[in-house]
Amino acid sequence: MVQNHHHRGGGSYYKRTSSSTANFFSKKPSFLSITLYIILLFAFSIFIFLVKTSINILDVDNGTDGQRTVFTEHSQSQSQSQSELESLEIPDEQLWDPPFSYGLHPCVKPTSKYRAAQGSDHYITVKSNGGLNQMRTGIADMVAVAHIMNATLVIPQLDKRSFWKDSSTFSDMFDEAQFIKTLRGDLRIAKELPKELESVPRARKHFTSWSGVGYYEEMTQLFKEYQVIHVAKSDSRLANNDLPLDIQRLRCRALYYALRFSPPIEILGEKLVERLRSRGGRYIALHLRYEKDMLSFTGCTYGLTDAESKELTIMRENTNHWKVKKINSTEQRIGGYCPLTPKEVGIFLQALGYPPSTIIYIAAGEIYGGNAHLSELMYRFPNLVFKETLATKEELKAFANHASQTAALDYLISVESDVFIPSHSGNMARAVEGHRRFLGHRKTITPDRRGLVELFDKLKSGKLREGPSFSQRVQQIHENWQGGPRKRKGPLPGIKGRARFRTEESFYENPYPECICSSKAA
Ligand SMILES: *[C@@H]1O[C@H](CO)[C@@H](O)[C@H](O)[C@H]1NC(C)=O
Ligand SMILES: *[C@@H]1O[C@H](CO)[C@@H](O)[C@H](O)[C@H]1NC(C)=O
Ligand SMILES: *[C@@H]1O[C@H](CO)[C@@H](O)[C@H](O)[C@H]1NC(C)=O
Repeated sequence: MVQNHHHRGGGSYYKRTSSSTANFFSKKPSFLSITLYIILLFAFSIFIFLVKTSINILDVDNGTDGQRTVFTEHSQSQSQSQSELESLEIPDEQLWDPPFSYGLHPCVKPTSKYRAAQGSDHYITVKSNGGLNQMRTGIADMVAVAHIMNATLVIPQLDKRSFWKDSSTFSDMFDEAQFIKTLRGDLRIAKELPKELESVPRARKHFTSWSGVGYYEEMTQLFKEYQVIHVAKSDSRLANNDLPLDIQRLRCRALYYALRFSPPIEILGEKLVERLRSRGGRYIALHLRYEKDMLSFTGCTYGLTDAESKELTIMRENTNHWKVKKINSTEQRIGGYCPLTPKEVGIFLQALGYPPSTIIYIAAGEIYGGNAHLSELMYRFPNLVFKETLATKEELKAFANHASQTAALDYLISVESDVFIPSHSGNMARAVEGHRRFLGHRKTITPDRRGLVELFDKLKSGKLREGPSFSQRVQQIHENWQGGPRKRKGPLPGIKGRARFRTEESFYENPYPECICSSKAA
């Protein structure tokens, strides 16, 4: 479907000139004066254009040493090409405007065939697993599963043992009343199991990952013997694709409308967004997944000290549920499987054309190595904002030791941002991207990590230098990675059997086309 949303790079200059000539024609003066006027106008705008560009060159002159040389050379060079000049002056709209979305809008209404699940005396209890976003999408799936199985869903238990060790309950995290009320037309949700069922034997199930409707219809056989089914894990139990439209839309209603965060989280999240806006209007939310657990899990040690690398290796060896122990960091990085380092993010954002004054909210937990690594990003973008500086100590007190609740704040601030940039793929990045697509294809720039690493390594070896042509290459690679409308991607070609499910794009990363429509009727 539609793609290529912006052929805007440098185009605004021509648009501006042509619209002023159009105004001029409406006054109907003589032919000679028109011609003279146009020539003058062109000469003048080219003059302004060149002056502005060279001012820009001075503006960004305070970069790294390497850069300074490049820019100086460039401004003195006589052979500079027009396109190289233009890549320095990136129109504001290219940096900040959402991609063109063809009038698409959210659509979550059920079809006329849809019926609520009646399920009165069959119950499903769920233990959600994973971090915040894995639990959220898992819970939305369990809503759909309970609907398919015609059962009552009991408010899920949250994971308290994951890496984040958060003791929050469902109602600490989410607005329970809203959850129950919003889904009233879909299925019955009970706050807890009825007393008399608490001690009856339950069917304990690990449902097969990425299952379809047929599987769950079969599973209803369990209700012949048991009144309660306990689901041990909620992540990725439902297929991304080939489900009835009504089930897909139910997933969207569950995730985007029913599963609101609890009032304290929503209220603080809103306040923090307001504060960010009051600092300068627009902001980037950067999901800087440069955290200890991620680096250890992925085995990415590029740019770290030997002591740091060792610490991460030991952590991986000691974490039982991480199955892969031996990892070649170099190969991981070249393959594009590593989170971008803070330094790489800085180079990337600068190459995209964001000015040093840009306000960047860091949506993340503790950055590994703290300031030692962050400073390499701060150096280019001094206006980094952390929740610790945005909120007061008082405000954050209630969130201390609740990693999921602070992650929820990051989620809200990221969904509301003008531009969202994840430094790594993962549950949070996918969930935020999907939600932004749903809300109107808000701009999400997904770094092509494999492509970038190639360019970064050329910078390092001196084959490339930062500057206009580098910038242009980075922008070219990301032209179609801005979160514009496109259909969800299917499995990778050539992969057979169940393994292909793992390679599909997640439903919640891109709920198009089921929950995003072009026609008004839907
Ligand atoms: C930035 O560059 C300008 C001109 O090149 C210079 O006058 C100024 O001191 C520099 N500022 C910093 C913070 O380096
Ligand atoms: C759902 O369950 C209710 C009550 O348990 C029952 O009356 C109804 O027939 C069931 N519906 C389907 C489609 O199985
Ligand atoms: C890791 O992989 C790179 C590239 O394939 C290779 O050059 C290097 O020797 C490997 N390192 C180790 C420790 O195996």
